[in-house]
This record gives sequence, C-alpha cells and structure tokens, in this order.
Amino acid sequence: MKALVYHGPGKKLWEEKPKPVLTAPTDAVVKISKTTICGTDLHIMKGDVATVTDGRILGHEGVGIIEETGDAVSNFKKGDHVLISCITSCGKCEYCKRGMYSHCEKGGWILGNIIDGTQAEYVRIPYADNSLYPIPAGSDEEALVMLSDILPTGFECGVLNGQVKPGDTVAIAGAGPVGLAALLTAQFYTPAMLIMIDMDDNRLKVSRTFGASQFVNPQKEDAVRKIFELTGNKGVDVAIEAVGVPSTFELCQSIVAPGGHIANIGVHGKKADLHLERLWSHNITITTRLVDTVTTPMLFKSVQSNKLAPEKLITHHFRLDDILHAYDVFGNAAKEQALKVILEN
Ligand SMILES: NC(=O)c1ccc[n+]([C@@H]2O[C@H](COP(=O)([O-])OP(=O)(O)OC[C@H]3O[C@@H](n4cnc5c(N)ncnc54)[C@H](O)[C@@H]3O)[C@@H](O)[C@H]2O)c1
Ligand SMILES: [Zn+2]
Ligand SMILES: [Zn+2]
Repeated sequence: MKALVYHGPGKKLWEEKPKPVLTAPTDAVVKISKTTICGTDLHIMKGDVATVTDGRILGHEGVGIIEETGDAVSNFKKGDHVLISCITSCGKCEYCKRGMYSHCEKGGWILGNIIDGTQAEYVRIPYADNSLYPIPAGSDEEALVMLSDILPTGFECGVLNGQVKPGDTVAIAGAGPVGLAALLTAQFYTPAMLIMIDMDDNRLKVSRTFGASQFVNPQKEDAVRKIFELTGNKGVDVAIEAVGVPSTFELCQSIVAPGGHIANIGVHGKKADLHLERLWSHNITITTRLVDTVTTPMLFKSVQSNKLAPEKLITHHFRLDDILHAYDVFGNAAKEQALKVILEN
C-alpha cells in the first residue's frame, strides 16, 4: 500500500509500505476512506515531537471501513463504517478507568506517533472496540473526520479545562482548526465575549462566521492593550492557548483576569516562561491536557443533531495520493486560506 512516511525533520515521502496485519486479537485493520492533516503533524515535521522516528507513517485522524478484525473484537465486523479516534484506549487500565484515555498504559496518542498512522491506504487500530466509533448509515462522514481529534481537543483541553461559563469573556490564541473547534464548542456555555487572536486575517475573518465577536492581530496591534480595552481593563476569564509557541502562552498569562483560567492546548517544542511575578496573586488556574476523547460520543450526537457544524472547517479536498501537495497547502494556510483539508482514498 502507499503511505505518507516521516524521514526526520522536514523530510517526508509518499511511498510503498507493507499493508498492516492484525498483531493482537483486539486489533482491527481499517481501510481509510478520508483522512486529514493536523497542526500536530506540522509540529512533527519541524522536529518538535521526539517520539516520532524515521520511517513512521503519520496521521491520527480519519474515517474508514473495517477490513479485518481480531477474534476479541466484538463491536465491529468487516464492512462497518468507523470513526477513528486519535487516542487509542484499552478501556481496562487505571488511566482508562479514570477517563484519561490519553494516558492509557497500552495506548494514548500512539497513532502516527509511535505506531503507524492514518495517512495511508490502511491502518491497524489496536483495542478497536474502545478506539473506534460506529458511523450510522447516511452520516456526513467528512464532517465526522473533525471528531477524530480537533473537536474533542478544542472542547476538552480548551473549553472544559478552561471552565467556560455563561457570561465569561474568553480569548482564544490561534484561529487554526483547533482554536476554531474551541470557539465552536465554547458556545455550548454562552460566554459573553469571544475574542480570537491570530496573525492570519483570513482565519480571523472566518472566526466571525463561527461566532467570535472580537478580533486581535498581534502583528498589527498591541494585543495585550487591545484585550484590556475590550474587557474594561479586567482581562479575560478564560485564555485558551491553541498555537503551541512560547509567545502565545506568555500572552495568555498577560491577559488572564484575577480568578481566571489559562487552558493550554498547543503542543510545545520549546520551554516557555511562567510569569509568577504577575500571577502569584491572581488566583488563576493553568491547565494542560492531551485530549482524552472522552467527549467524542457527546460531540458525535451534537453533530448528528446539527447543533455543531464542523464541516464548516473543511476548505480543501485532495486525493490521498496527492498528500504532499495537501501538506504544502496546509503548511501555507494563510496564503492558501486553508483550514482543514480532506484527503480521499
Ligand atoms: N493538546 C492536544 O491534545 C492537542 C491535540 C491536537 C492539536 N494540538 C495542538 O493545537 C495547536 C493548534 O492546532 P491547529 O491544527 O489549529 O494548528 P494550526 O497550525 O493550523 O493553527 C495555529 C494558528 O496559530 C496562529 N499563530 C501562529 N503564531 C501565532 C502567534 N504568535 N500569535 C497568534 N497566532 C499565531 C497561526 O496563524 C494559525 O492560525 C497545535 O499546537 C497542535 O499541535 C494539541
Ligand atoms: Zn491532531
Ligand atoms: Zn488503557
């Protein structure tokens, strides 16, 4: 089969790889129908994620059709349409029992990281019963690709950890797919003000149609000053970091109001300063999280009942074998006006 293979920072090839086979009775092999590229894949390509080694097939999102199941898989059979979670979970270990699938002792974020991923014609999914979700006939499968990672990530790491409440002022640094997913799901809680921060004016414009009320471009204005002006000199109740660079984590520290929350989502490859000289007295909470995908069933229902429309995030379509081109487009998102790209097998 063909797959997108990582060969060290900046190097990737679309090349021939062996088709995956079942290696445990709890495995399933899935034929990919649609997959996508994540901001995390861009971090991997920069060399930010040390666990990804030469030869790895990338990708941790997608939908597909069950090709084969191990003897212990009881929820799925050949031909079933499935949503692949970016997090693999055994459902049995201590962390899984606590709903912290991201730290499953046998899984977690392994796809496209320490085992081969979904940017391929086929993928092996360990612990299939707990790591796949059935897709009902007639569903918009493209929209569901957004449920593999970005919707639960924006919601769990940003909105739930940030404890967004009715009437809150919320700032989201990063209007990429993950920041926009946080923007969409923050509105479950009717915050009073939703401020988006990004250097990409097109993404800021898009965020308006997703419900943002205020926009800050730190390349064109003093972001801290503008946010204090917008919030009556208080700062924000919730600052969500959805970029993954030190400057935006520090910006969140500068704009958080007393009693507020900083919810980090970004994957960071470099250390960032913690400004305790300002924050020690501010009664704030800082959270970090690797998405657990425990909210996927709830978000699935919200999408199916048209309460959430994640298909709005899709801007480009490519054939899977055109994935190198798709990486170029997603990697130059501002120029290409790209959000989520769909790759079809
Ligand atoms: N914690 C998790 O479990 C988890 C899961 C998935 C993704 N992530 C991370 O979430 C982050 C966002 O993912 P994405 O797919 O939306 O990425 P993306 O690269 O598409 O979006 C990042 C956005 O940040 C903007 N940006 C860059 N530098 C900026 C700055 N200095 N100030 C303001 N905006 C700036 C870019 O213009 C872009 O719009 C990434 O770091 C990704 O790795 C984390
Ligand atoms: Zn991802
Ligand atoms: Zn587990």
